[in-house]
Amino acid sequence: MSGDPSPQAGVRPVPASIDARLAPVLALDGPTASGKGTIAQRVAAALGWHYLDSGALYRLTALAALRAGVPFDDAEGLARLAAALPVDFTADGRIVLGGADVTDAIRDEAVGNGASRLAVHAGVRAALLGLQRGFRRPPGLVADGRDMGTVVFPDATLKVFLTASAESRADRRHKQLIEKGISANLPGLLQDLRERDARDASRSVAPLAQAEGAHVLDSTSLSIDETVEKVLELWTAQG
Ligand code: DC
Repeated sequence: MSGDPSPQAGVRPVPASIDARLAPVLALDGPTASGKGTIAQRVAAALGWHYLDSGALYRLTALAALRAGVPFDDAEGLARLAAALPVDFTADGRIVLGGADVTDAIRDEAVGNGASRLAVHAGVRAALLGLQRGFRRPPGLVADGRDMGTVVFPDATLKVFLTASAESRADRRHKQLIEKGISANLPGLLQDLRERDARDASRSVAPLAQAEGAHVLDSTSLSIDETVEKVLELWTAQG
Protein backbone atom coordinates (compact mmCIF):
# COMPACT_ATOMS: atom_id res chain seq x y z
CA MET A 1 0.00 0.00 0.00
CA SER A 2 3.02 2.24 0.18
CA GLY A 3 2.76 5.15 -2.15
CA ASP A 4 -1.03 4.99 -2.23
CA PRO A 5 -2.62 8.37 -1.73
CA SER A 6 -3.42 9.15 1.84
CA PRO A 7 -6.83 7.67 2.55
CA GLN A 8 -7.69 10.53 4.82
CA ALA A 9 -6.73 13.13 2.24
CA GLY A 10 -8.56 16.36 2.72
CA VAL A 11 -10.72 14.97 5.52
CA ARG A 12 -10.99 17.25 8.50
CA PRO A 13 -12.88 16.92 11.77
CA VAL A 14 -16.57 17.59 11.40
CA PRO A 15 -17.74 21.18 11.92
CA ALA A 16 -19.80 21.56 15.10
CA SER A 17 -22.88 22.37 13.04
CA ILE A 18 -23.00 18.85 11.54
CA ASP A 19 -24.30 16.02 13.68
CA ALA A 20 -21.68 13.41 12.88
CA ARG A 21 -23.74 10.69 14.51
CA LEU A 22 -26.14 10.91 11.60
CA ALA A 23 -23.45 9.72 9.18
CA PRO A 24 -23.53 5.93 8.66
CA VAL A 25 -20.36 3.96 9.31
CA LEU A 26 -19.23 0.76 7.63
CA ALA A 27 -16.69 -0.85 9.98
CA LEU A 28 -14.15 -3.16 8.39
CA ASP A 29 -11.95 -4.96 10.91
CA GLY A 30 -9.47 -7.77 10.51
CA PRO A 31 -5.94 -9.02 11.07
CA THR A 32 -2.79 -7.57 9.56
CA ALA A 33 -2.35 -7.88 5.78
CA SER A 34 -5.92 -9.07 5.30
CA GLY A 35 -6.33 -6.51 2.53
CA LYS A 36 -8.61 -4.29 4.63
CA GLY A 37 -6.98 -1.08 3.44
CA THR A 38 -7.39 -1.77 -0.26
CA ILE A 39 -10.89 -3.17 0.14
CA ALA A 40 -12.04 -0.34 2.41
CA GLN A 41 -10.73 2.34 0.03
CA ARG A 42 -12.46 0.70 -2.91
CA VAL A 43 -15.74 0.35 -1.01
CA ALA A 44 -15.51 4.00 0.12
CA ALA A 45 -14.92 5.10 -3.47
CA ALA A 46 -17.88 3.01 -4.72
CA LEU A 47 -20.21 4.51 -2.11
CA GLY A 48 -18.75 8.02 -2.42
CA TRP A 49 -17.91 8.00 1.31
CA HIS A 50 -14.95 9.11 3.40
CA TYR A 51 -12.34 6.63 4.51
CA LEU A 52 -10.43 6.22 7.77
CA ASP A 53 -7.26 4.11 7.91
CA SER A 54 -7.04 3.88 11.70
CA GLY A 55 -3.83 1.81 11.51
CA ALA A 56 -2.09 4.86 9.98
CA LEU A 57 -2.66 6.74 13.25
CA TYR A 58 -0.99 3.96 15.27
CA ARG A 59 1.81 3.85 12.71
CA LEU A 60 2.26 7.64 12.95
CA THR A 61 2.53 7.36 16.72
CA ALA A 62 5.13 4.59 16.32
CA LEU A 63 7.17 6.64 13.87
CA ALA A 64 6.99 9.70 16.12
CA ALA A 65 8.13 7.52 19.06
CA LEU A 66 11.05 6.09 17.09
CA ARG A 67 12.14 9.57 16.06
CA ALA A 68 11.75 11.02 19.56
CA GLY A 69 13.43 8.02 21.21
CA VAL A 70 10.35 7.12 23.28
CA PRO A 71 10.45 3.37 24.08
CA PHE A 72 7.43 1.22 23.19
CA ASP A 73 6.93 0.27 26.84
CA ASP A 74 6.67 3.89 28.01
CA ALA A 75 2.87 4.00 28.14
CA GLU A 76 2.64 7.57 29.44
CA GLY A 77 5.21 9.00 27.05
CA LEU A 78 3.50 7.30 24.10
CA ALA A 79 0.05 8.51 25.16
CA ARG A 80 1.41 12.07 25.33
CA LEU A 81 2.85 11.69 21.82
CA ALA A 82 -0.42 10.27 20.46
CA ALA A 83 -2.47 13.07 22.02
CA ALA A 84 -0.39 15.74 20.30
CA LEU A 85 0.52 14.20 16.95
CA PRO A 86 1.55 17.09 14.67
CA VAL A 87 -0.09 15.37 11.70
CA ASP A 88 -1.61 16.77 8.56
CA PHE A 89 -3.42 14.79 5.86
CA THR A 90 -2.86 16.97 2.80
CA ALA A 91 -5.33 17.47 -0.02
CA ASP A 92 -2.92 15.83 -2.48
CA GLY A 93 -2.90 12.62 -0.49
CA ARG A 94 0.27 12.86 1.57
CA ILE A 95 0.70 12.34 5.30
CA VAL A 96 2.87 14.97 6.94
CA LEU A 97 4.26 14.58 10.45
CA GLY A 98 5.95 17.57 12.02
CA GLY A 99 6.57 19.09 8.59
CA ALA A 100 8.07 15.91 7.05
CA ASP A 101 6.32 13.74 4.45
CA VAL A 102 6.00 10.30 6.06
CA THR A 103 3.49 8.70 3.65
CA ASP A 104 5.94 5.94 2.73
CA ALA A 105 7.90 5.84 5.99
CA ILE A 106 4.87 4.71 8.04
CA ARG A 107 4.48 1.62 5.81
CA ASP A 108 7.83 0.27 6.92
CA GLU A 109 7.62 -3.16 8.61
CA ALA A 110 9.50 -1.87 11.68
CA VAL A 111 6.97 0.93 12.07
CA GLY A 112 4.08 -1.55 11.71
CA ASN A 113 5.60 -3.71 14.42
CA GLY A 114 6.07 -0.71 16.66
CA ALA A 115 2.44 0.27 16.05
CA SER A 116 1.30 -3.19 17.15
CA ARG A 117 3.45 -2.92 20.29
CA LEU A 118 2.26 0.52 21.38
CA ALA A 119 -1.36 -0.30 20.52
CA VAL A 120 -1.53 -2.40 23.71
CA HIS A 121 -1.50 0.73 25.90
CA ALA A 122 -4.94 1.97 26.98
CA GLY A 123 -3.68 5.57 27.19
CA VAL A 124 -2.51 5.52 23.57
CA ARG A 125 -5.84 4.10 22.40
CA ALA A 126 -7.78 6.68 24.41
CA ALA A 127 -5.64 9.48 22.97
CA LEU A 128 -6.44 8.38 19.40
CA LEU A 129 -10.17 7.80 19.96
CA GLY A 130 -11.39 11.38 19.41
CA LEU A 131 -9.18 11.78 16.37
CA GLN A 132 -10.71 8.66 14.78
CA ARG A 133 -14.30 9.64 15.58
CA GLY A 134 -13.63 13.05 14.01
CA PHE A 135 -13.48 11.38 10.60
CA ARG A 136 -17.17 10.47 10.76
CA ARG A 137 -19.06 12.85 8.55
CA PRO A 138 -21.79 12.76 5.89
CA PRO A 139 -22.46 11.10 3.57
CA GLY A 140 -20.75 8.24 5.43
CA LEU A 141 -17.48 6.70 6.57
CA VAL A 142 -15.76 3.42 5.79
CA ALA A 143 -13.37 2.77 8.68
CA ASP A 144 -10.75 0.06 8.71
CA GLY A 145 -8.81 -1.27 11.68
CA ARG A 146 -9.01 -3.75 14.55
CA ASP A 147 -11.63 -2.21 16.83
CA MET A 148 -13.80 -0.12 14.51
CA GLY A 149 -16.94 -2.20 15.14
CA THR A 150 -16.24 -2.99 18.78
CA VAL A 151 -14.95 0.26 20.32
CA VAL A 152 -14.59 3.24 18.00
CA PHE A 153 -17.92 2.97 16.13
CA PRO A 154 -19.98 0.39 18.05
CA ASP A 155 -23.13 1.82 16.39
CA ALA A 156 -21.76 1.17 12.86
CA THR A 157 -24.52 0.34 10.39
CA LEU A 158 -22.59 -2.56 8.90
CA LYS A 159 -19.71 -4.47 10.50
CA VAL A 160 -17.49 -6.74 8.43
CA PHE A 161 -14.68 -8.90 9.78
CA LEU A 162 -12.30 -9.52 6.90
CA THR A 163 -9.85 -12.36 7.23
CA ALA A 164 -7.68 -14.71 5.18
CA SER A 165 -5.30 -17.54 6.06
CA ALA A 166 -1.96 -16.46 7.56
CA GLU A 167 -0.13 -18.07 4.62
CA SER A 168 -2.06 -16.17 1.98
CA ARG A 169 -1.67 -12.90 3.91
CA ALA A 170 2.11 -13.41 4.20
CA ASP A 171 2.22 -14.28 0.52
CA ARG A 172 0.35 -11.08 -0.43
CA ARG A 173 2.58 -8.95 1.80
CA HIS A 174 5.65 -10.62 0.25
CA LYS A 175 4.48 -9.81 -3.29
CA GLN A 176 3.71 -6.20 -2.32
CA LEU A 177 7.21 -5.71 -0.90
CA ILE A 178 8.92 -7.32 -3.89
CA GLU A 179 6.88 -5.14 -6.27
CA LYS A 180 8.16 -2.13 -4.37
CA GLY A 181 11.72 -3.35 -4.75
CA ILE A 182 12.06 -4.13 -1.05
CA SER A 183 13.77 -7.44 -0.34
CA ALA A 184 11.65 -9.70 1.84
CA ASN A 185 11.81 -13.17 3.25
CA LEU A 186 8.57 -15.17 3.20
CA PRO A 187 9.12 -17.42 6.27
CA GLY A 188 10.22 -14.34 8.25
CA LEU A 189 7.13 -12.40 7.14
CA LEU A 190 4.86 -15.30 8.09
CA GLN A 191 6.39 -15.56 11.55
CA ASP A 192 6.17 -11.80 12.06
CA LEU A 193 2.55 -11.78 10.94
CA ARG A 194 1.64 -14.60 13.34
CA GLU A 195 3.30 -12.76 16.22
CA ARG A 196 1.44 -9.59 15.32
CA ASP A 197 -1.89 -11.46 15.07
CA ALA A 198 -1.30 -12.98 18.51
CA ARG A 199 -0.39 -9.63 20.07
CA ASP A 200 -3.30 -7.75 18.45
CA ALA A 201 -5.80 -10.45 19.47
CA SER A 202 -4.57 -11.06 23.01
CA ARG A 203 -4.12 -7.53 24.35
CA SER A 204 -6.48 -6.64 27.16
CA VAL A 205 -7.65 -3.31 25.69
CA ALA A 206 -9.72 -3.33 22.48
CA PRO A 207 -8.27 -6.60 21.11
CA LEU A 208 -8.76 -7.61 17.51
CA ALA A 209 -12.11 -9.38 17.72
CA GLN A 210 -15.24 -9.92 15.71
CA ALA A 211 -17.85 -7.39 16.76
CA GLU A 212 -21.26 -8.70 17.72
CA GLY A 213 -23.29 -8.89 14.55
CA ALA A 214 -20.22 -8.66 12.28
CA HIS A 215 -20.29 -10.50 8.96
CA VAL A 216 -17.20 -12.65 8.59
CA LEU A 217 -15.67 -12.53 5.12
CA ASP A 218 -12.81 -14.92 4.34
CA SER A 219 -10.92 -13.58 1.33
CA THR A 220 -8.36 -16.40 1.08
CA SER A 221 -9.67 -17.52 -2.27
CA LEU A 222 -11.26 -14.25 -3.40
CA SER A 223 -9.77 -11.55 -5.62
CA ILE A 224 -9.85 -7.90 -4.55
CA ASP A 225 -12.74 -7.22 -6.94
CA GLU A 226 -14.72 -10.18 -5.59
CA THR A 227 -14.13 -9.11 -2.01
CA VAL A 228 -15.22 -5.53 -2.73
CA GLU A 229 -18.31 -6.91 -4.45
CA LYS A 230 -19.17 -9.06 -1.40
CA VAL A 231 -18.89 -6.09 0.96
CA LEU A 232 -21.10 -3.97 -1.31
CA GLU A 233 -23.61 -6.84 -1.48
CA LEU A 234 -23.70 -6.93 2.33
CA TRP A 235 -24.29 -3.18 2.36
CA THR A 236 -27.13 -3.44 -0.17
CA ALA A 237 -28.66 -6.37 1.69
CA GLN A 238 -28.56 -4.29 4.86
CA GLY A 239 -30.88 -1.81 3.16
O1 DC B 1 -3.66 -1.96 10.00
P1 DC B 1 -2.18 -1.70 10.21
O2 DC B 1 -1.27 -2.86 9.87
O3 DC B 1 -1.75 -0.44 9.53
O4 DC B 1 -2.03 -1.44 11.79
C1 DC B 1 -0.78 -1.36 12.42
C2 DC B 1 -0.95 -1.73 13.89
O5 DC B 1 -1.74 -0.75 14.56
C3 DC B 1 -1.65 -3.06 14.16
O6 DC B 1 -0.74 -4.15 14.22
C4 DC B 1 -2.34 -2.86 15.48
C5 DC B 1 -2.57 -1.37 15.55
N1 DC B 1 -3.97 -1.01 15.30
C6 DC B 1 -4.84 -1.11 16.36
O7 DC B 1 -4.46 -1.55 17.43
N2 DC B 1 -6.13 -0.70 16.20
C7 DC B 1 -6.58 -0.25 15.03
N3 DC B 1 -7.84 0.14 14.92
C8 DC B 1 -5.69 -0.17 13.92
C9 DC B 1 -4.40 -0.57 14.08
